[in-house]
Amino acid sequence: MSPAVDDPHASGPFLLRGLRPVGVAERWEKDPDLGPVVVPEETLLRRVTELGEEITLDYEGRAPLLVGVLKGAFVFMSDLARVICQPVEVDVMAVASYGSATATSGVVRIVKDLDSDLTDRHVLVVEDIVDSGLTLSYIRRNLLARRPASLEICALLVKEGRQRADIDLRYVGFHIPPDFVVGYGLDVAERYRNLPDIRVYQGPVPVD
Ligand code: IMP
Ligand code: MG
Repeated sequence: MSPAVDDPHASGPFLLRGLRPVGVAERWEKDPDLGPVVVPEETLLRRVTELGEEITLDYEGRAPLLVGVLKGAFVFMSDLARVICQPVEVDVMAVASYGSATATSGVVRIVKDLDSDLTDRHVLVVEDIVDSGLTLSYIRRNLLARRPASLEICALLVKEGRQRADIDLRYVGFHIPPDFVVGYGLDVAERYRNLPDIRVYQGPVPVD
C-alpha cells in the first residue's frame, strides 16, 4: 500500500494541490513561440472551482448533462466536472469550422455527434473559448432543436470585443484580450493543449 499523503495542501481543493511532475514549468519557459501568461494555472483552477460551486447550487435536484465541445474543452470539462458536487452526466461532441488556422468562418459541421438523447435533459454546454461566437451560436441552435428541458452555456474564456453573434453565456470564466491564446486544452495546430496556463501564442501562423 502507498504511504499516506503528507502534502500540506492535501486537505484543500484537490485541483489546487500543486502536484505536478518536476520540470514542467521550466520546459514551457524555454519555448520562444509562447508569449505572456494570460491566465496562470492557479487562477484558472480557482475560477473553475468557483464555477463548479455556482453550477452545483443552480442545478440542485436536476442533474446536468455536460456537453463538452472537443477538442479544446477537454481539460476544462474534466476539471469542472470534478468540482460540481452533485450527479452529472458527461457527453462530448466535436465540430469543425471552415476558416483559417486561427479564425472561424462560422460554417460549422458536426464531426462527432453526441451519444445522448437530449429530450428533457438539462444541458450545459462546456466550451473552451468564444471568439466570434459563431461556433457556439451554431451549436446552440443545433442542440435546442433536440428539445432539451434547458440549455445553458459555460465558456472558460471570452475574447473581448470580438463577438459577431449574440449568445447568452450563463457562466464565463474570464474575459481576455483578443490575442490568439493556447494552453489548458487550447491548441495551435494541435500543439500546447497540455500547457497548464493560458498563454499568448506568438509563433508562426500555421498554414491550413
Ligand atoms: P468562434 O466560432 O470564432 O467563437 O471560435 C471558437 C473556436 O475557435 C473555439 O472553440 C476554439 O476552438 C477556436 N479558437 C478561437 N480562438 C482561439 C484561440 O485564441 N486559441 C485557440 N483556439 C481558438
Ligand atoms: Mg472549441
